[in-house]
Amino acid sequence: MRYRKLGNSDLLASKVAFGAWAIGGWTWGGSDEAEAIRAIHAAIDAGINFFDTAPVYGFGRSEEILGKALKGKREKVIIATKCGLVWDKKAGEFHFRSTEETITDSGRLEIYKYLAPESLRLEVEKSLQRLQTDYIDLYQTHWPDNTTPIEETMAELVRLKKEGKIRAIGASNVSVEQLEKYQAIGRLDTDQEKFSLIDRQKLTTNIPWCHKHQVSFLAYSPLAQGLLTGKINLDREFPPSDLRSKKPRFVLENRAFIMSFLGDIQPIAERRNITLGQLAIAWVLNQGEHIHALVGARNVKQVQENAAAGEIVLSTEEVGFISKMIKKHGPNII
Ligand SMILES: NC(=O)c1ccc[n+]([C@@H]2O[C@H](COP(=O)([O-])OP(=O)(O)OC[C@H]3O[C@@H](n4cnc5c(N)ncnc54)[C@H](OP(=O)(O)O)[C@@H]3O)[C@@H](O)[C@H]2O)c1
Repeated sequence: MRYRKLGNSDLLASKVAFGAWAIGGWTWGGSDEAEAIRAIHAAIDAGINFFDTAPVYGFGRSEEILGKALKGKREKVIIATKCGLVWDKKAGEFHFRSTEETITDSGRLEIYKYLAPESLRLEVEKSLQRLQTDYIDLYQTHWPDNTTPIEETMAELVRLKKEGKIRAIGASNVSVEQLEKYQAIGRLDTDQEKFSLIDRQKLTTNIPWCHKHQVSFLAYSPLAQGLLTGKINLDREFPPSDLRSKKPRFVLENRAFIMSFLGDIQPIAERRNITLGQLAIAWVLNQGEHIHALVGARNVKQVQENAAAGEIVLSTEEVGFISKMIKKHGPNII
């Protein structure tokens, strides 16, 4: 595993991180707590020291499972969580509502984007409790809230950092213009955005901006939620409670286009004796020294495979060939 400091902080984080959304269960067709804890422990054994979660992942469940699994191992790991998606009040900007299929024990919840200073203060305390810790290594705004000026949000995050409740500050799902606003008020250490072989928009925007400003770029959904592993073939079915059952990207026609793309890059994986998923993660990491891949995993086997991708460095020829195949198949894939 390779490690790199997050932004200008002292946090030395593994290039492959454990993404803890799916283990929260909600919108991922449920999850098995014991299996999730085994996966977290396997991640540490495989060199992963960087864990990314959020309160909204299972409405606290992902953070709670992580807190339980990391008990006694706290000083060895970097915990990243988020703020700004709330479901216990109607404030800020409406984001989305859970559907009949993704109903929770508390009914159909409404989620709001809310980054007001007083709300962050409440949120951080709840996360600390669920994570069973007294500090959060990296605290990130989850989605922009257009009802709160970034300057106010960032000023509060800077205060939380001074108080020692958080150690580094990050943003997610933001534009370069929004990153500039954060940076004008305090030190931003990370930017978390969707990025994979089939989500390359950030290559010309946030990724170069982060490089220039010594901000680490955290790539989320680097496997396109499993599509790039090659294991989601035309037969794989998702239960209605799994968000992938509704996503246009997962329709059979698009899966066929993705499989055709993967078929063309498969020889690289075969020559190196790695899986397609590992190749997809390695490609993400190859796009810049400042990039980390946040890879979601539900079990030990997945986490071990994903962690091993942290060792792979692709050659110029391999990257060039993949670029050619992206040009060939890109226009068909959504
Ligand atoms: N900031 C944000 O707004 C945001 C948004 C999305 C994600 N994220 C973060 O990024 C993390 C990763 O993104 P993601 O979970 O959306 O997608 P991802 O990492 O691209 O895909 C994860 C899914 O792929 C499958 N998978 C993983 N490893 C595999 C392997 N070795 N072999 C076969 N299948 C494998 C698993 O699903 P199955 O086993 O069910 O197939 C897993 O849940 C999240 O956990 C979260 O921490 C952040």
